[in-house]
Amino acid sequence: MKITTVIGARPQFIKAAALTKAFREHGIHERVLHTGQHYDENMSDVFFKDLEMPEPTVNLAVTASSHAEQTATMLTGIEQDILNFSPDALLVYGDTNSTLAGALAAAKLNTPVIHVEAGLRSFDKRMPEEINRVLTDNLSSLLLCPTQTSVNNLIKENISGKIELVGDVMQVVLMDLINVAKSESRIHEKIGHPAGSYYLATVHRAENTNNADKLFSVMETLGSLDEKVVFPMHPRTKNVLQSWGWKNTSESLFVIEPVGYIDMISLIAGARMILTDSGGLQKEAGWLGKQCVTLRENTEWVETIEAGLNRLAGTDDKAIRNAIADFENKKPNLNKNKNISVTKKIISAIKNNIV
Ligand code: UD1
Ligand code: UDP
Repeated sequence: MKITTVIGARPQFIKAAALTKAFREHGIHERVLHTGQHYDENMSDVFFKDLEMPEPTVNLAVTASSHAEQTATMLTGIEQDILNFSPDALLVYGDTNSTLAGALAAAKLNTPVIHVEAGLRSFDKRMPEEINRVLTDNLSSLLLCPTQTSVNNLIKENISGKIELVGDVMQVVLMDLINVAKSESRIHEKIGHPAGSYYLATVHRAENTNNADKLFSVMETLGSLDEKVVFPMHPRTKNVLQSWGWKNTSESLFVIEPVGYIDMISLIAGARMILTDSGGLQKEAGWLGKQCVTLRENTEWVETIEAGLNRLAGTDDKAIRNAIADFENKKPNLNKNKNISVTKKIISAIKNNIV
């Protein structure tokens, strides 16, 4: 069987690591197409090294542009690649523009689409990710869901593809590498902040970075908490802050460059709390028993809230401080579910449904 996997953004390199390994073990031939959506060394190459993944077979090098231009460039490149190599299916992850471009190019050529991380919904169509998810799920033949809630969302929407609950590939990758990270990462020494001495923050969502007042207010809050904050800054956030003339005047906010996966999971494991608008980080926090204050009004990962490890605070200063204070007074419950059979379930779903 031949599968083309389309990836392009940081979280997709991480998600792909688990399946690339499993495909090799099960004799499935995988062609990895990198759209080039993320292209900096520390947003792309570092993940292939950290996760011991082979170089992508092809890189479309689309880089940054408007949604339409970026998606359109990806579409033509992916279409040509499908025509050249005729895969039995095309596999996409998550909810980025690379996900939508892959699904749309394949569906139009009657190539079955496999969507990993299907069925997630924030029910907020102002998010580009929500548009990408809904469209991709409608174009997919095989929908591989990480949670029961995501399965239920697809059933409610009468999605026509085959729906399977398989668990979360990100958890597989995290559990595989967390011990390596704890013993090998030197990130705490490098940044000069020992484990247990900081909160870890990330902010990159369009809804938080497109508005100067909102982003300045979040930075002000992060820089005036009672705890040190380590902030590996996404290039989108860095670029907009720079263009608006923002300067870090806080003595407790430490902005660093984005880090590779091994250093990142070591930073999470050493953090006293996580403050983020990232999808992936909300889950990783929970899997490592860390409390997470989510800097959004909604989340697709409702299970993390139900488990008591995640709180939605949005970007309001008071709401963030209240969520932190509440968490500081409570011990987190460890989420013990290790989900080790995820890749096995995905391989059988593919073998049973793609001919
Ligand atoms: C994208 C996804 C988002 C995901 C995030 C993961 C879409 C619509 N959004 O958002 O769902 O959570 O990736 O990180 O697909 N840039 C660089 N170097 C890079 C990559 C980006 O400088 O290597 C800068 C560019 O200025 C670019 C901006 O970041 O314009 C935004 O990048 P883009 O890939 O369009 O969206 P993300 O915000 O990264
Ligand atoms: N991540 C990383 N280095 C960083 C910031 C994040 O390796 O400097 C990891 C993080 O641990 C998670 C993934 O990148 O596994 C999440 O990516 P991001 O927040 O960019 O995207 P989202 O999950 O919100 O789509």
